[in-house]
Amino acid sequence: MLVAPSMLASDFSHLADELKKITDGGADYVHLDVMDGAFVPNISFGAPVIAAMRPHTSMLFDVHLMIQHPKRYIADFAKAGADIISFHVECADDPAEVIAEIVSHGVRPAMVLKPNTPAESIFPYLDKLYMVLLMTVEPGFGGQSFMPEPLLKARQLKEKNPSVLIEADGGINAQTVLDCAQAGVDICVAGTGVFKAADPAAAIRQLQSAGC
Ligand code: DX5
Ligand code: ZN
Repeated sequence: MLVAPSMLASDFSHLADELKKITDGGADYVHLDVMDGAFVPNISFGAPVIAAMRPHTSMLFDVHLMIQHPKRYIADFAKAGADIISFHVECADDPAEVIAEIVSHGVRPAMVLKPNTPAESIFPYLDKLYMVLLMTVEPGFGGQSFMPEPLLKARQLKEKNPSVLIEADGGINAQTVLDCAQAGVDICVAGTGVFKAADPAAAIRQLQSAGC
């Protein structure tokens, strides 16, 4: 299992140190949660903060956009150093156009499904995607309880496109990661589970060992 710690649960006053902690701790991707206060009822950070983090690690930046109109901001996030950009199928833009915009900037495209959004809603776009992110909580806040049901979508999606990576996000810890591994998830996001752990490097290793 690959592990993508979410910076949302890190200490924002020491972002460089927090990035070093997870880089040295052997994490695989850095998960960056962008919230606009409109698509979700919370505001986090945007492209300038991601650009400031970029020089502090060579890990892949996995940018999760929880914003209403992602298309108009893709260029900014590409320039800030995103390697993967995920946007919600529930956003207000045409998914085909958002994917084309992401690809035109040399970034890998991914789509996100809220817990109750069916897998079928992204079938038309699936062959263009590098990754699908399955929310295992309602997006907007860290520290919520894990819901297992959305993971059933992993197999449906892999059946349609065996090469698409599946990422799960929300409430993932040493216990719930086992459900993710069993469901065929490739990458797990963990905010609280890594940054609030007494030993973040040990927490990363434990999550990585799930399903191995
Ligand atoms: C929720 C975010 C998650 C969140 C995960 O909207 O997309 O990435 O930070 O945090 P934990 O692991 O604390 O649930
Ligand atoms: Zn996220």
